[in-house]
Amino acid sequence: MKKILIREIQVGDILAQHIFLPNTGLPLIKGGTVITPVHLRYLEKYELTDLECFIMDESAMMDMLLPEEERIMANNFRSDVIRSIRETTVKKTLAATYLALESLNEEARENRPLTLSKVNNVSSVLVNRILENNNVMLQMAALKAISEYTFSHSVNVAIYAINLGRLLGLNEESLKGLAMAGLLHDIGKMSIPPEIIEKPEKLTPQEFEQIKSHSIKGYLRLTTKTKDLPRETINAVLQHHEKLDGSGYPNGLQGSFIHLWARILSIADIYDAMTSDRCYREAFLPHETVEYLLSLCSQGSLDRELIELFVQNTSFYPPGCKVLLNTGEKGTVVDYPWQVPVRPTIEIISPTSLQKIGKAKQGKLSTPANKKIELEKDLTVFITAMWPP
Ligand SMILES: [Fe+2]
Repeated sequence: MKKILIREIQVGDILAQHIFLPNTGLPLIKGGTVITPVHLRYLEKYELTDLECFIMDESAMMDMLLPEEERIMANNFRSDVIRSIRETTVKKTLAATYLALESLNEEARENRPLTLSKVNNVSSVLVNRILENNNVMLQMAALKAISEYTFSHSVNVAIYAINLGRLLGLNEESLKGLAMAGLLHDIGKMSIPPEIIEKPEKLTPQEFEQIKSHSIKGYLRLTTKTKDLPRETINAVLQHHEKLDGSGYPNGLQGSFIHLWARILSIADIYDAMTSDRCYREAFLPHETVEYLLSLCSQGSLDRELIELFVQNTSFYPPGCKVLLNTGEKGTVVDYPWQVPVRPTIEIISPTSLQKIGKAKQGKLSTPANKKIELEKDLTVFITAMWPP
C-alpha cells in the first residue's frame, strides 16, 4: 500500500482504501476500484486533488495472486505445452480454411449472412497468428494446464468477438487487440482455486465473490506479468463483466463508459458459455441462448445494437446441420431467413427413426419425409437438439 496525493493517481492504479466525500462520510470511490479517466474527472470535479489517498503498490497486487501461480507458470513454460496448444487450434479450425474463404466470398457476393462455422474458420487464422505472440501464448499455456474448458472457451470467445468486430468495421489492428482480449479475458481464473472454478454444485456467496474477482485479477496479471499488450486489451479484460445498466462488476460502470471491446466480449462470453456443456448442466441450444441474450437487452444490461448485429448476421443452424424437433421429427436444415436465422427451414428426413432412439417427444408426426417446415412461419414447432454438419 502506498500513500500519494490524489492528483498523482493515474489511470490503472488500484485504490487500497475508499476515497470519501468530505463532510458526508460517504465513499466516492470504493477501495479495490481500478481508476479510469471517469474517476479522475470526478476527483477533479469534487476538488479532492490536494487530499491524500492509498493505492496498491506492486507487492500488494502480487499478494492478491495465489502463490502457486508462479509454480504453474514455470511448469508451463515448456515447449511441448506450447506445441500442443498450436496443434489443437490448428487442427480444430484451420483444416477447412481454404474452403471457408471460398464460400465466404460467395456468401458476401450474395449479401447473405455468414455461417458461424465459416466465420470461425476465417477468424481462427487471426487467432493463430496472435498465438505466435509469446506474451499471449504463455498465458494461454498456463490457462490450458489449469482448465481445458476455460482454454477452449477463451479461443471461442476470441473467434466470436472477431466476428462481431468485423461486422462493426474494426480495422485489422483493433481486431488483433480484441482477439487478444478474447483469449485472455478469463486469465484471472488462474488465480482462483480450480475446485471453485470447476465446482458442479451451487457456489456459496463467498465462492461467488472469489469467482467475480477474476476480472480484476486478470487485469493485475496482465499489467504486471506481460509486456506490450495494448492498454485497450487489458481494459477490455477488466471490464468484460460490466453491464450497461451498471449492474456488472468490478466497477459497476455504465453505458459508453464500458469499452466497446468489453461490450463485444460480454456477448461472445455469454453466447459461448451457454452453448457449451458444463459439469453442472447441458448446453443450451443457439435459439434459446439468443432469446436469453435478447432478454438481457430488454433489461438494459446488454447492448441491443451489438446483439442485433450478431443475431442478424450469423447462421446459428447452418445448412446441413441435423436437428430434432419438438414434434419428434428429425430433419436437415436447408435454409434460413436472413432476419430470423434462429428459425431455419427444415427438410424432414425421418419422422419415425427418432422414436427408436427414444428422444422424441409426443406430438404430431404427420409430416411426410422430404417435406419442408419453415420454423419462421410455424411458431408451434421448435428445435430441441442439433448435430453440426
Ligand atoms: Fe469472465
